[in-house]
Amino acid sequence: MVKAVVCGAAGGIGQPLSLLLKLNPLITELSLYDVVNALGVAADLSHIATPAQVTGFLPPDNGAERALKGADIVVIPAGVPRKPGMTRDDLFVNAGICATLASAIANACPKAFILVISNPVNSTVPVFAETLKKAGVFDPKRLFGVTHLDIVRASTFLATVLGKPQDAPKYKVPVVGGHSGVTILPLLSQAEPKIPSDVLGDKAKRDALVNRIQFGGDEVVKAKDGAGSATLSMAQAGAEFAEFVLQAAFGGKKSQRPVQAYVYLGAEAGGEAVKKEIGADLDYFSVNVELGPNGIEKILPIGQIDAAEKELLGAAVKELGPSIEKGATFQPAPPKL
Ligand SMILES: NC(=O)c1ccc[n+]([C@@H]2O[C@H](COP(=O)([O-])OP(=O)(O)OC[C@H]3O[C@@H](n4cnc5c(N)ncnc54)[C@H](O)[C@@H]3O)[C@@H](O)[C@H]2O)c1
Repeated sequence: MVKAVVCGAAGGIGQPLSLLLKLNPLITELSLYDVVNALGVAADLSHIATPAQVTGFLPPDNGAERALKGADIVVIPAGVPRKPGMTRDDLFVNAGICATLASAIANACPKAFILVISNPVNSTVPVFAETLKKAGVFDPKRLFGVTHLDIVRASTFLATVLGKPQDAPKYKVPVVGGHSGVTILPLLSQAEPKIPSDVLGDKAKRDALVNRIQFGGDEVVKAKDGAGSATLSMAQAGAEFAEFVLQAAFGGKKSQRPVQAYVYLGAEAGGEAVKKEIGADLDYFSVNVELGPNGIEKILPIGQIDAAEKELLGAAVKELGPSIEKGATFQPAPPKL
């Protein structure tokens, strides 16, 4: 029996993500929470003939905690998306929503795996961690900032550059750092299969590919022209990442290969080694992790990177530090009396 909850389930990401989770045979109960329209989305999805029983919840009568009660996994795309000209940092308004949801999780399902999609991930994950710490229930092995869309984009864009777009699923590019502009650090030198030297060694081609991976989200924001940011690709990436966590925890399948997520570096052995590799005392970083029944089992080293990547790492670290600090020191407004 596995209970999954989507917070922000009626949104652009929330709806297709809820659909994909409804199709996941490991999930037997699916709760959909939103401040609007969650009942309609739940009624619609409930007609699909898969095992998961779907229920919708709105805020009245402590709806968030009723939705979350006893959850095993909570996926959170709640909040405001970007409009043209905005960076993810401009979405810090979402911090308050994240703090409120974290408090509800602390009360209703303190042992759940928490997958944070709401931007700016670089700051909202620290907001979750600090709120859970205050409630005395923070388990860093169970908290993930979902950066998997960066990995998905990296495979797709690399395959396109190599003239083999149909081979996108075969390409694996580790992407570490954070989830915003220059904090997104694709490790092209570690790509599998190896990138031919006429691409990797061509500065202009390489810079263009790195830039597309870092700022790929802007292509969608621009094309949607005011109607939001990536939703369908994010839903697919979020559902795929949830599947990795669910398989490791409940499906009896440890991840076949490491997965990447933005995690607390104190989560497990390995985090301190990453801090040494990046040469900075950052508490959060997107890294390769191994998953098991209790979440993160091991944080893996970044490994060897080349000179171009070292330069990018410097820029990523410089921007990540203040974003982490902003989230970690966020003070939610006191409730209105
Ligand atoms: N991690 C990533 O890679 C990634 C990628 C794309 C978008 N995002 C982020 O995901 C978030 C959602 O994007 P979207 O396009 O689905 O936005 P959206 O506006 O379409 O949907 C957000 C949903 O959240 C709901 N919501 C607002 N406040 C809430 C609260 N307090 N509790 C529960 N639900 C609440 C809204 O009613 C809405 O249905 C944004 O912050 C966006 O920047 C992250």
